[in-house]
Amino acid sequence: MLKEKRWEVGSEFDWSNDTVTSSLSKTFFPETHKLFSTGRSILLSLPPLFKRHQSRLRLHLPSFFCMDVAADLSKVFELCWYRDMPTELLPDFNSLNPLPGDLVLSVNLFGIKEGKVWQDWASQHKDIILIEDHTHDPISPWAQQSTAHYAMASVRKTLPIPDGAIIWSPQKLQLPQPALGEPSGAYKKLIAMLLKRAYLSGANISKDAYRMFQIEGEQALNAETSSAASSFTSNILNYLNISELRKKRELNIKQFFYLLLTETHSNCKPLFTTWSSGAVPFNSILVCANNEVREGLRKFLISQNIFATVHWQQPFKGFSANDSMAIDLSNRILTIPTDQRYSLDDIERIVSNITEFLKTYDHIAAT
Ligand SMILES: Cc1ncc(COP(=O)(O)O)c(C=O)c1O
Repeated sequence: MLKEKRWEVGSEFDWSNDTVTSSLSKTFFPETHKLFSTGRSILLSLPPLFKRHQSRLRLHLPSFFCMDVAADLSKVFELCWYRDMPTELLPDFNSLNPLPGDLVLSVNLFGIKEGKVWQDWASQHKDIILIEDHTHDPISPWAQQSTAHYAMASVRKTLPIPDGAIIWSPQKLQLPQPALGEPSGAYKKLIAMLLKRAYLSGANISKDAYRMFQIEGEQALNAETSSAASSFTSNILNYLNISELRKKRELNIKQFFYLLLTETHSNCKPLFTTWSSGAVPFNSILVCANNEVREGLRKFLISQNIFATVHWQQPFKGFSANDSMAIDLSNRILTIPTDQRYSLDDIERIVSNITEFLKTYDHIAAT
């Protein structure tokens, strides 16, 4: 028997049977949908649905977005940018000027945005194809009540599966089809998930063993342009206890902010502390005073086995929306993993590590 558990927070999901229900869970997604391996596979598969004379379709993206994904999309689309920031209530519609037939991706950034403004916008721009990206909260009220041409979500970002992304059409339009079979990268990632579970449970295997499968699997998946979800994902998706996992995520995020805000920290603040009823944020997001604090905190947390992520650095691989507001935020933002994997004790330990760093930092800065 294994004696000792390892404590580690963040990075990719491990596999746990605790996330599964015995009977078919409530289906949150419309009956008619398509499963792909990745979100970018979905978006890259859209152009053949729109017969156009121009060589490349234009796709309008929010200026605060994952530049790695944008770089892949630029291979197929002509990219245009409009300002949408997670710090602002509304997108800057003045900066969004699509031509008839263009595609616009509206993103529920960190799961805290509202869909009504997009519905109003779409009703005044009927010649534009609106695609909603619900990756950060795939079953939000906005997603479930969507009236867009298409709605999609990379569900592998919030659910413990090796691959998987979904598209449906609230307007019942033709859906893209995955052109290729199952991605081998998904199976590498599944191996990584199983090995990570064994590692966290105390098995004497090296971290490098599962990290290698994770990295290779992710690289292979991200190179896919139109692959179906793996059989593992398409079989298990309906048996994941999605609503319980989502409830746990919200509880953890609430607890994180509650504990963090018992003290004030001049060098670091939550990006948001409230969200509309029914929505569940992607994670606990912090904004630091500057890049030095962000990097100091990120590195300190790594030393404590807490792997915080930057959503999303720009420029990245030379890619940027060239929006000074988005670039500035990208230098200061930090995602603290507080999802369904963690207990309230874990959240307390995460917060006390952050508080320890910030107190020391504030103290040094004051002397
Ligand atoms: C908001 C958002 N949309 C789409 C994607 C693309 O998903 P995938 O990585 O599965 O291609 C990502 C990935 O980071 C994302 O964060």
